[in-house]
Amino acid sequence: MQKKTETQKKTEILSSTDENLEKAAQLLRGGGLVAFPTETVYGLGANALDPAAVSGIFAAKGRPCDNPLIVHISDVSQVYDLSDDITVPARRVMEVFWPGPLTVVLPRKSGVPDVVTAGLDTVAVRMPDHPAALGLISKAGIPVAAPSANSSGSPSPTTAGHVAEDLSGKIDAVVDGGPCRVGVESTVIDMTLEPPVILRPGGVTREQLEAVLGPVETAASFAAGNAEAPKSPGMKYRHYSPKAEVVLVTGEQPDEITRKVSELTAKYRCRGKRIGVLASAETAAKYKADAVFDLGSRGCSEEIARNLFYGLRHMDMQGVDIIISEGYSETGIGAAVMNRLRKAAGSIITV
Ligand code: TXA
Ligand code: MG
Repeated sequence: MQKKTETQKKTEILSSTDENLEKAAQLLRGGGLVAFPTETVYGLGANALDPAAVSGIFAAKGRPCDNPLIVHISDVSQVYDLSDDITVPARRVMEVFWPGPLTVVLPRKSGVPDVVTAGLDTVAVRMPDHPAALGLISKAGIPVAAPSANSSGSPSPTTAGHVAEDLSGKIDAVVDGGPCRVGVESTVIDMTLEPPVILRPGGVTREQLEAVLGPVETAASFAAGNAEAPKSPGMKYRHYSPKAEVVLVTGEQPDEITRKVSELTAKYRCRGKRIGVLASAETAAKYKADAVFDLGSRGCSEEIARNLFYGLRHMDMQGVDIIISEGYSETGIGAAVMNRLRKAAGSIITV
């Protein structure tokens, strides 16, 4: 008989009432693992100051230990418990974008456990803009380390149901706050570098950041001019991947993209594959596939972002073999959409 290595937990699904948030806060204080909604995606939280609790996050997700976690706070003053070297520009972005989808990388104070930062001398901090997240963190009275609440490698969860699909039996509770408003993760900006470097595009756009900070670099532009790449350990891993293979079709002309997606759909179906198409509202009706999911209007990147992870997970539920996705403009939050699609894709075709 195979030895059982993990004990199953009974995962409670809690609505986000005040009473339930108090219960979830107690679980966190006691070293438990609680998934909670944020405006970006659901997070899997543990007491950031308790190394054993934080280790539980890595075990539940199957996450590599060298990928550091974001510490979530409910009040700006808590940032001084995590870092004692906060520059004027860092303070400024926190004032402008918090609470909100911006994670700020700062020099780390010695009290922050190694397991949280994967041994780096920096710590990533964010104040989420969701009443249940803020209520939970403030009731718990501790900083909360939380990655996205998915199994490592799979698309991030934007509903409590997604969290349960991946982590039921492995965590203590999920606070259900309904679907996430932004739908892609926070922007991660390294404020220890001058100019600051966007390590991961996300809910706050480069354009918004530059309006406050002046020019910022992206991880790609920084890497091109420096021998040493900025430290973003998470970016090297497989990410956001559904079970089906993803083919991304990019290009300048939407008509060309549509033609190529249709051609590929016909070709793969001929070979007996089940095909799902992630389409825009403008083109969804044009495709003859086994499943078509409308991500929203091409003209509204916010809508595409909100529906992206939902769409990828929906396709897995439909049991398709291959997901073909249209590509989108990279401006605004489109940069985050395309970053996630590129990482999810096994192949990228440019027309
Ligand atoms: O929107 C979000 O950011 C969500 C919600 C739950 O807040 N969280 C999230 O966490 O996306 P996660 O663990 O899936 O992604 C965190 C990213 C990873 O790419 C990680 O490598 C990077 O942040 N990161 C964390 N600490 C860092 C540090 N000290 N220096 C550089 N990158 C860091
Ligand atoms: Mg993640």
